[in-house]
Amino acid sequence: MQGRRRELILLGLGNVGRELLRQILQTREAVKHRDGLRLVPTAVADVSGALVELEGLPEGTLRRALAVTSSGGILESLPDAHELDGVRAAIRPGAIVADLTASPETGPTLRAALENKCGIVLANKHPVAGPWREAQSFYGSPHVRYEVTVGAGLPVISTLQVLVDTGDRITEIEGCLSGTLGYLCSELERGNPFSAAVEEARALGYAEPDPREDLRGRDVARKALIMARTAGWPLDSADLTVEPLYPEELASVPIDAFLAASPAQDGLYRRRFAEALDRGETLRYVARVGPKGGSVGLVAVKRESSLGTLRGPGNYVAFWTERYAEIPLAIAGPGAGPQVTAAGVLGDIIRISRET
Ligand SMILES: NC(=O)c1ccc[n+]([C@@H]2O[C@H](COP(=O)([O-])OP(=O)(O)OC[C@H]3O[C@@H](n4cnc5c(N)ncnc54)[C@H](OP(=O)(O)O)[C@@H]3O)[C@@H](O)[C@H]2O)c1
Repeated sequence: MQGRRRELILLGLGNVGRELLRQILQTREAVKHRDGLRLVPTAVADVSGALVELEGLPEGTLRRALAVTSSGGILESLPDAHELDGVRAAIRPGAIVADLTASPETGPTLRAALENKCGIVLANKHPVAGPWREAQSFYGSPHVRYEVTVGAGLPVISTLQVLVDTGDRITEIEGCLSGTLGYLCSELERGNPFSAAVEEARALGYAEPDPREDLRGRDVARKALIMARTAGWPLDSADLTVEPLYPEELASVPIDAFLAASPAQDGLYRRRFAEALDRGETLRYVARVGPKGGSVGLVAVKRESSLGTLRGPGNYVAFWTERYAEIPLAIAGPGAGPQVTAAGVLGDIIRISRET
């Protein structure tokens, strides 16, 4: 069986990009049989360069790209690599561009792809979380999917879209959307000092090497913004208040100085958690958003509530709507990890291929 051809352009061969490429290679025969769909990577890129072959990159080339990037190398080191701009040649009508970078720079390429009647699948939050006037072209199009930008492989965005599509009215969205901050709150609740919990989160790979990336709450705010916009509220970052978990004066010191100063926060968080626990509550890093705006920060919740019983890096999100007014529609599970994230991206690729 020949199958309908769908060209794929993968921007970013990091943890998610490599796992996606492996899953495409593993599943493409099954996808061809089941859906009559042939997924054909025509370009793969990291920040150093790109491999491009409009007829379809041979499996051997894709495996070489996986081998070199898995061992810390860059695509530029391969003999057949092009400059990153070479990707543009592959942006042809019907192709699907998957943005698997964490870069704020991919917007123009993605907009060019949309204008060229390509599909777009995003793991990268930046294009959909930037200023509304730039981001709005990515919302509401059947050619654009961004499921894994919130909750990784959990069906958060598609569930929200079904609610909106079927005429429900969302009133509030609430959730714990950061594995790192979830882990941190669990540890603080257990009495682990703030500075030790931050070190452990780094050692376990939950936190970024510079933990301020997670502690400043901006990543959670981006997720809140993406959900709000999907719910039909065209909010901007200024509509959300964000509580960073470190003082302003540590915002721009070197990492070592930041880590050395973090034991000074231990007392503050020990006290905040102890006071909450005395009241039968605990603290969670919660995003709450409604039609007019929202907040992201530490919030006291009942210990026996869904948020209060959340442990470790798990994610939880609840949609309060006209139809789900008494008990919210809730989704919970692991909100990170290359395998579940790549599977979510592949699901988006298959859905766009079926529907457009
Ligand atoms: N990991 C997860 O569990 C998870 C879950 C949900 C969502 N996400 C999102 O998925 C994205 C990827 O995550 P990751 O963990 O795979 O990150 P990562 O390991 O840092 O990989 C990012 C990749 O993007 C490449 N890159 C950067 N700028 C680029 C550009 N302008 N053009 C082409 N490639 C570029 C990087 O190349 P170099 O290495 O050469 O710099 C690297 O290959 C992020 O946006 C992340 O927030 C991740």
